[in-house]
Amino acid sequence: MSVTKEIKRVTTNSLQEMKRRGEKIAMLTAYDYSMATIVDESGMDIILVGDSASNVMAGHETTLPITLDQMIYHAQSVVRAAKRALVIVDLPFGSYQGNSKEALNSAIRIMKEAGAHGVKIEGGVEIAESVTRILTAGIPVMGHLGLTPQSIYKFGTYTVRAKEENEAQKLREDALKLQELGCFGIVLEKIPAKLAKEVTESISIPTIGIGAGKHCDGQVLVIHDMLGINKGFKPRFLRQYSNLNQLMNAAFKSYIADVKAKNFPNHTEQY
Ligand code: KIV
Repeated sequence: MSVTKEIKRVTTNSLQEMKRRGEKIAMLTAYDYSMATIVDESGMDIILVGDSASNVMAGHETTLPITLDQMIYHAQSVVRAAKRALVIVDLPFGSYQGNSKEALNSAIRIMKEAGAHGVKIEGGVEIAESVTRILTAGIPVMGHLGLTPQSIYKFGTYTVRAKEENEAQKLREDALKLQELGCFGIVLEKIPAKLAKEVTESISIPTIGIGAGKHCDGQVLVIHDMLGINKGFKPRFLRQYSNLNQLMNAAFKSYIADVKAKNFPNHTEQY
């Protein structure tokens, strides 16, 4: 008799329950099969196929250039790997701003072609119609407020958002609106910890913070940043759990040295 342990998938409902019982939610980005396999096996609750792929996978300066087709390609690879984690995929810039029908079509492509479990979309009341339309199709939606990188040319800088009262008030209202529309969660990016705490306590859906302090219901980081792959990217909010840049560099140098010294392959490494 084979004893296979059934893996229970994290769902949007289990995330709500986690908030209710005070269990923090761990979310991390991934963009390819191999990384996503390791992330999923670690017990991560949510894997985000973020449009940060535009930066860390493709080398663009911003998240704006990545296309819907490219996001779907990354998402397909991640979905193949994820057995337990909930896989959420960013709607990229230009795939939802036109109108709510375009937003719905983009979300449907992500669900149908990649097999994702939900989408994330940047913005508040301005995108209410699109959020509603996507939700009406039965697609779970996660909001994203605060620093919304797709609007970087409007902000002009990646500094902390909502420090001023008028912007903080808009964020509070946006969070309530997204909850009212039916979003299952909201990413809060780079806002004061005090405001994130207030918003987290004012809504019943989970908030996931990045640079938004410890009171959010969960945390998210970009995998390349937390593994220390990106040399020199060390914003205050980032905790580096490894220094893969150094480790990989040392491995590559050893390999080069072995090849040059005719040390690789040796007699046990050949046929
Ligand atoms: O694209 C991304 O990685 C994100 C996270 C920073 C939340 O949106």
